[in-house]
Amino acid sequence: MAEKTLLASRKFIKPSFSYLIEKKRDGGEFNEEEIRFIVDSILDKEMPEFQMAALAMAIYFQNMSAQETATFAEEMMLSGEVIDLSKITMPKIAKYSTGGVGDKTSLVLTPLAAACGVVMPAMNGVDENFVISTLDKLSSIPKFKADMDLKEFVKQLKTVNCAIVQQHPEIAPVDGILYELRQNTATIQSLPLITGSILSKKLAEGAEGLVVDVKWGNGSFVKDLEQAKQLARSITRVGRSMKRRCVALVTDMNQPLGDTVGTALEVREAIELLKGEGPEDLQELVLKLGMEIVRLAGVAGSTLSAKQTVQKHLKDGSALEKFKEMIQVQGGDTSFIDDPEKFPTAKYIRKLPAPKRGYVHTINAGMIARGVQILATTKKGKMDPAVGVSEIKKVGTQVKQGEPLMMIHYNDETRLESALEYLRSAYRLAPKRPNPPELIVERVA
Ligand code: URA
Repeated sequence: MAEKTLLASRKFIKPSFSYLIEKKRDGGEFNEEEIRFIVDSILDKEMPEFQMAALAMAIYFQNMSAQETATFAEEMMLSGEVIDLSKITMPKIAKYSTGGVGDKTSLVLTPLAAACGVVMPAMNGVDENFVISTLDKLSSIPKFKADMDLKEFVKQLKTVNCAIVQQHPEIAPVDGILYELRQNTATIQSLPLITGSILSKKLAEGAEGLVVDVKWGNGSFVKDLEQAKQLARSITRVGRSMKRRCVALVTDMNQPLGDTVGTALEVREAIELLKGEGPEDLQELVLKLGMEIVRLAGVAGSTLSAKQTVQKHLKDGSALEKFKEMIQVQGGDTSFIDDPEKFPTAKYIRKLPAPKRGYVHTINAGMIARGVQILATTKKGKMDPAVGVSEIKKVGTQVKQGEPLMMIHYNDETRLESALEYLRSAYRLAPKRPNPPELIVERVA
């Protein structure tokens, strides 16, 4: 009798949690029933947190096989609602970025995909502790509404073809519980746990396919290139075994993306990108990810037609119109899109002077993010939307002594000194021009 039939024919006897922890600690492989039992026990709050933590640590050290990871992702997805978008005949593709400093591509790609004829659901949940989330950025548009029930979400996907909303608590709830635990137990970096986390929630949003931007570098939680490549392979492989089309790009996050970091400053930059303008690195990333989306969706058959499709919808204004439509339907004030000068601006702007002449050799994007976070966090613990940095000099740029490495926008002078420490130490200048970093390192399909 085949193993599956055998498994199905006998009764599953619930193991103890300590048995499961021991099994994984010693390098064992969980079967489907054990994984289902683990996920159910987390959902029903039957597994105590100390045993969840021990289990997460055992997985961190011993890993999971591709089969275990796929079952884990599937079970986490099924732990809540799985949105049914089958009544929408257009292709439905989700996009996920592991998060980076100055990364505003989700703001651009979501309406761009919709303009190209691809439905794009976008729930935004996980907060990297120093990265400004897409929803934080959108909150700089007055009255923009990010929380939505699932019915409204589906309705908007039908009518507008895109929506960027707060992660709904009914979507992969076990991932929410585990992610919080992992943040507090140094187990975020586990490849199978990241893979399960991303796939469970993105696929529960109803997408048929997924394009993932796996960032590596000092501005990402994945610091190591090899690990980023492995994560890209793990997501695409497990995604495929869950019968979804998946493509991942491994991209550089060793310097901020674009010219700005900061809430309103980044939305303004995203508006430029939606007009087919803006900084070159972001234009390239939007184009490459956009091409993956339209190809995965089947809207474009070849690389050339994918490129033409994406470029056309940026140039003819339809991506920007979609963005406006989405903001309007979600209650936001679209006059800010028509006139970006309306976004709040900081009281003070000053330069960060280069301490000597030379070439920008390396930038620590994580430090820039921390500097901005210090400047932007108000006494009430909220983000000041007007604050941030702009005109960021990128790796390879030549500067004279005293020339600005960036412009700093701030409202609270008392925070400037400690922010400056981070911003200054983010830069290393050298006499020789370094090789420019490769933005897109690998494509995994
Ligand atoms: N982002 C996620 O959504 N999940 C992880 O586990 C890590 C990053």
